[in-house]
Amino acid sequence: MVRVCFVCLGNICRSPTAEGVMRHLVQKRGLENQFVIDSAGTGGYHVGASPDRRSVAAAKARGIRVDGCARQFERRDFERFDYVLAMDAQNLADLKSMAPKHGGAHVALLLDYAADGPANASVPDPYYGGDTGFGHVLDLCERACEGFLASVIAQGLIKAPSK
Ligand code: 4NP
Repeated sequence: MVRVCFVCLGNICRSPTAEGVMRHLVQKRGLENQFVIDSAGTGGYHVGASPDRRSVAAAKARGIRVDGCARQFERRDFERFDYVLAMDAQNLADLKSMAPKHGGAHVALLLDYAADGPANASVPDPYYGGDTGFGHVLDLCERACEGFLASVIAQGLIKAPSK
């Protein structure tokens, strides 16, 4: 079993997108019983809100469902998840400042799992931009979630899919 929480600022654009993409990948491979997948925001401004309709529409165009209800990341989430994956460098810094000194989830940038991607890359915040930003977020999330899935399979943390 692998428990992963994707984290951005508002939990209405990037992290719900990553959650939807990961859920989609895992379901496609029949691995849903081996994962707990969630998302949260470092900020509390949008708590209780649905995902941004532009994120929902961009994902729907690719057959991916983005849903849920925004919540703020809590300290106890470091114990509830094995991986806490941040969308950008500021999210990562905010998470690290809250993280327990010892133990708890592995905290990293989501894009560290993207094959051939540059190190320390961030998923850009699409909130104040145009619709193309939301497609770009999806491209990045798809690449990185594929890499993350490959990584947990390679580590033997879940049973590899039978082909
Ligand atoms: P997210 O995008 O962190 O990807 O959910 C944002 C959503 C809202 C705001 C900023 C980023 N905001 O400033 O309200």
